[in-house]
Amino acid sequence: MVAGSSERNLAARELFAPLAGTYDRYARLLSFGQDPRWRAFLVSRIEARPVHVILDVATGTAAVALALARRYGCRVVGVDQSPEMLAEGRRRAETAGLGASIELREERAEELPFEDASFDGLTFTYLLRYVDDPGATMRELARVVRPGGRIAMLEFCVPRRAVPRAAWEAWVRLGLPLAGRVVSPGWGEVGRFLGPSVRAFCERTPPGRLQALWEEAGVDDVRGRLLSLGGGIVMWGTRGG
Ligand SMILES: C[S@@+](CC[C@H](N)C(=O)[O-])C[C@H]1O[C@@H](n2cnc3c(N)ncnc32)[C@H](O)[C@@H]1O
Repeated sequence: MVAGSSERNLAARELFAPLAGTYDRYARLLSFGQDPRWRAFLVSRIEARPVHVILDVATGTAAVALALARRYGCRVVGVDQSPEMLAEGRRRAETAGLGASIELREERAEELPFEDASFDGLTFTYLLRYVDDPGATMRELARVVRPGGRIAMLEFCVPRRAVPRAAWEAWVRLGLPLAGRVVSPGWGEVGRFLGPSVRAFCERTPPGRLQALWEEAGVDDVRGRLLSLGGGIVMWGTRGG
């Protein structure tokens, strides 16, 4: 376990431990195939070059790390607090022939063991719902990126328009818990947890508040795009000088 872990960190570790081997297949299925499309847009915001080193935080099974290395030919350091997810990520990177370009390490986003400005860019996916203080974590992420480096994030969102919102509520209240239970006990837990977790995060941290957290962390020119009728959001910006 990574030193300094909080109750929330431990709960997230327990949630992801049983999912690692099936994560990619079911994450895609349970998001109606949207997940890979969202990640591709996230990766396109980074605009890396082959000489760059990008940090991917909450890398999980390395889906974003793999996409970054494939698209830009850059080096990627991926960090995550789940050893099980990282083990699956290492297996995937080796299978893809990208083991030499992707280094995966067990670390917590709240306390990164890197010097200031060590990376040319940074991505993080589905992370801020799992930390106690999103503002402090945002400052820690921005700290390790050099001035001028790109930062990009992907997170779930609650659609705001009435019809997509009603469909979203039906899916997270009924469809997802049922589908999760059918797959496995671990995915059953995800099915129960995900809707309330996303709803609570979006109420506390709507896109305007999220943008303010980024700006307070020293990220300039912050932009966001809602995806799939507002079910996902990609936010990106540039580390200030
Ligand atoms: C939903 S998964 C996303 C994985 C991957 N980025 C993707 O796109 O599929 C969320 C990941 O966040 C990790 N995580 C949660 N809290 C974390 C923290 N405080 N520090 C580092 N990783 C964390 C979990 O272990 C899990 O692998």
